[in-house]
Amino acid sequence: MSHYPALRMRRPRAAGWSRRLHAETVLTPADLIWPLFVTEGDGEEPIATLPGVSRWGLNGIADRAREAQDLGIPCIALFPNTPRELRSDRGEEALNPDNLMCRAIKAIKDAAPDIGVLTDVALDPYTSHGHDGLIDDCGYVLNDETAELLVAQALVQAGAGADIVAPSDMMDGRVGRIREALEAEGHCNVQIMAYSAKYASAFYGPFRDAVGSRGLLQGDKKTYQMDPANAEEALREVALDLEEGADSVMVKPGLPYLDIIRRVKDAFEVPVFAYQVSGEYAMIEAAVAAGAGDRDALVMETLMAFKRAGCAGVLTYHAAHAARLMA
Ligand code: PBG
Repeated sequence: MSHYPALRMRRPRAAGWSRRLHAETVLTPADLIWPLFVTEGDGEEPIATLPGVSRWGLNGIADRAREAQDLGIPCIALFPNTPRELRSDRGEEALNPDNLMCRAIKAIKDAAPDIGVLTDVALDPYTSHGHDGLIDDCGYVLNDETAELLVAQALVQAGAGADIVAPSDMMDGRVGRIREALEAEGHCNVQIMAYSAKYASAFYGPFRDAVGSRGLLQGDKKTYQMDPANAEEALREVALDLEEGADSVMVKPGLPYLDIIRRVKDAFEVPVFAYQVSGEYAMIEAAVAAGAGDRDALVMETLMAFKRAGCAGVLTYHAAHAARLMA
């Protein structure tokens, strides 16, 4: 007898204990990666378009690392706001082993040795034009020349103690070259999380404020980041990155691309991560400020959606808040 009234779908929903018992998906603090912005100096710099998120100096970064460790968050993703005078056409500061990023990695390792550190491999926080790579006279981002610098950047980050290097630049062929270089330089346990399906999205605005590249960016990133219209292309990107040695892959942004996450998970059965990006965070905060929704509920529902779609974990600016809600 498989229909009403013998079957009542509402029956298991009637009590809280039963809803808990029947939950198909679980979310824990161990599913979260916390992106943090680092700045020179020792202050805290709030970011207007990311209310509740600040850039931190090295002491603040160390405090956040201890906080993450106490909350059971396994990993921090780092993004530097490079001082304007250190940005250049070719983004050489990315290769300085004493740059802000490298000092922040060490500060985290000293403060909270059990936290994993994920670093972004891309040149945009270091270039005077705001692009992720080198540009030619027409402003076109050069693939192979950029990949060469990204390999060097990844090695500098690994040398400073990064546990996961995450190329977010969308250049072709860079994952394989980075893997090869890491192996050759004795970093065989440094992972690569490839931003495989990264879309040319309107949801990155607040991030570009946070790393100071919004005002600098010339044009858009559509010649390297993906067209939001495409899904099959995302599967090809993932396949290539896995072939080249990616340990895990990422889909970015998050919520508007849950279909991509599910398709990647079903097709490849590898760890898939989502980046709930700055614009998504800002939308939730704007909804809360407008009285349109409850922050805690919105945060937990969106994070659960990523798990349900097949994610191993989520990069989210709400990581500490969510972990606190789960404590
Ligand atoms: C840059 C990078 C971006 C983000 C992460 N790495 C922005 C971009 O591609 O312009 C966006 C993250 C966010 O919006 O939270 N390589």
